[in-house]
Amino acid sequence: MEKTDERIIAEHVASIDSTNAELKRRIASGALTGPAALSANEQTAGRGRRGRSWINTEGALMMSYAFPTGSLDPDHIPLVTMAAALAARTAIRRHCENAVIKWPNDIVIRAEKGYKKLSGILSELASAPDGRLFAVIGIGVNVNCGEVPGDLLHPASSIFLETGVKTDLAVIEAELLSALREELDALTADPAALLERYSALCMTIGSEVQAYGLDNIPITGRAVGIDERGRLLIKTEERTVTVGAADVFISVSQN
Ligand code: BTN
Repeated sequence: MEKTDERIIAEHVASIDSTNAELKRRIASGALTGPAALSANEQTAGRGRRGRSWINTEGALMMSYAFPTGSLDPDHIPLVTMAAALAARTAIRRHCENAVIKWPNDIVIRAEKGYKKLSGILSELASAPDGRLFAVIGIGVNVNCGEVPGDLLHPASSIFLETGVKTDLAVIEAELLSALREELDALTADPAALLERYSALCMTIGSEVQAYGLDNIPITGRAVGIDERGRLLIKTEERTVTVGAADVFISVSQN
């Protein structure tokens, strides 16, 4: 990762398949050699976590930030996703003060029955021809959307729907980028401190949850923490289960 005082190239395009996919292509071709940000008005094939699509919504911010992971210990690369969640929380709370983190990196707002999603993050890795590894952090934020295509499993909202205030997408993008660079520096400097801060701010921890991993068999229990790789620890009636990738539903939130 480069130092915060280095300039990054921030580019905006009208339409693209996916800002993550485009930065990964540039990394793979050798066209990208340092940190870069790309945002778009429209994505024709936006991608979400676990192979899902990210539906293009009028008024949403869709951006990706890529950086070489060089200065990060390889063991700490999985924590990039936690750093990104902390950054998104900071930027979004400037406009919507009740936004909170839901493990691993959704930003949600509490609702009468559960929560509504304001933002999702897709973190990926890509290798450059010279062998350098890059992280690509893709962030979608429902900023000015008047309608958001949630579903029963993933109800959604927008900053505008929650506050009645429209926000300049360029302003929130700049705030996000600045928060991202701060959190990535914090991760490089002291990963344990970042994890501690993340754990204190993540609404999932301390809550009763149901997690569905790849096998779709539910794990039910209390989320009691995260491990050093950012995996969720769920205490079931029998034991504590470590969950790496899953859809987590919160039944009773303590945070
Ligand atoms: C999720 O909640 O599943 C993650 C959604 C990530 C969406 C963003 S929008 C910008 C970037 N480009 C993509 O194709 N996906 C991410």
